[in-house]
Amino acid sequence: RAIESEPPACTAGLHAEASERRLDLAVVVPTFNERENIPLLISALREALDGLRWEVVFVDDDSPDGTAEIIDEFARRDGSVRLLQRVGRRGLSSACIEGALATSASVIAVMDADMQHDESIIPLMLARLREEGLDVVVGTRNAQGGSMGELSAGRRLLSGVGQRISAAACRCELSDPMSGFFLFRRSFFLEVVHRLHGGGFKILVDILASSERPVRLAEVGYQFRGRLHGESKLDLNNGIELLFLVASKLTGDVIPSRFAVFALVGAVGLFTHMLCLGLLLRGLHWSFNEAQSVAAFVAMTENFFVNNLITYRDRSLRGARLVTGLMSFWLACSFGAWANVSFARSLLQSGMPWIAAGAAGVVLGSVWNYTVSSLFTWQT
Ligand code: GDD
Ligand code: MN
Repeated sequence: RAIESEPPACTAGLHAEASERRLDLAVVVPTFNERENIPLLISALREALDGLRWEVVFVDDDSPDGTAEIIDEFARRDGSVRLLQRVGRRGLSSACIEGALATSASVIAVMDADMQHDESIIPLMLARLREEGLDVVVGTRNAQGGSMGELSAGRRLLSGVGQRISAAACRCELSDPMSGFFLFRRSFFLEVVHRLHGGGFKILVDILASSERPVRLAEVGYQFRGRLHGESKLDLNNGIELLFLVASKLTGDVIPSRFAVFALVGAVGLFTHMLCLGLLLRGLHWSFNEAQSVAAFVAMTENFFVNNLITYRDRSLRGARLVTGLMSFWLACSFGAWANVSFARSLLQSGMPWIAAGAAGVVLGSVWNYTVSSLFTWQT
């Protein structure tokens, strides 16, 4: 037992040395086409973090503009600048995760390379994390002293919608879950890292929603600045990726996120169906059977295209395969609708209340539609 509790002399020495050398802070900066911003960011960090033991870890996804070469020049001269290069991969969240895993600093910050985030508040964020024993401190555009700065009205609106959706997935109160500027304790990160989704843009939402316990968190306001050079890489696709992330977190990673999105698209299709049915029945005075059949076709067709665009955006069908795909989807869903109705009817006849029988039919139909269409239509 004595041998077990006392580490061998060599590792004890290692521990002592390590705790002395351990960095206070690592700043992880994902980069894609940011060459002009790198020198400015490095000098801004040097000034802001003076007096701390720190390093910056750039994670570059093989930027065609030569960002990595610029970083490498700094890294050769300055031990606190490090470069992690990834080839054949893209993704802001996964870049941050890998950057965070590549450092041993006790606290890790994440920020943009484009000078939009105010590096001068990092020491304050770090001080609060340490003094208040927090897991995460978020630089917030919405908190006291914060502002959205020069963000366009459109981006502001999108940001607001994203904030609502993300707040549902995070198990904590915070005013700006979409922030890309925050810091966290390495030990907390290691607690959640195995559950991270890793896709998309919203690494903070991912981290917060992956915690199994309430997160100790504070926000510090700052003025969001305009991008210095280059352009934003945020696009509609990132919005869809956020949908996938939230879907997977809300279902506790139990229901595959693709199915959750498929079901969501189905719910929108139901709305289209009812709208169409009402229009044909009331407006054009069609018979119920005709109206119901046409509404079903319209809804199925809409679902096909929306699923092709969103749910299966990684394997979207194009050209001639779009036609065969649509036909196979019609076929799959028609059978699904038939199974739905027959199953519900038999449950109803065996004495189940109509709400339960109806819902069971819908679940069976959706699972069927999902399974068959992903096997045959999109061939996953
Ligand atoms: N390695 C890597 N790979 N880096 C990337 C990638 C990628 O695929 N895509 C973007 N980046 C880098 C950019 O070079 C930049 O340093 C940072 O990630 C953020 O990208 P921007 O294009 O500047 O995004 P934004 O300014 O529109 O949005 C950012 O700020 C918002 C407000 O704080 C993001 O951080 C958002 O998450 C955040 O909500
Ligand atoms: Mn930015």
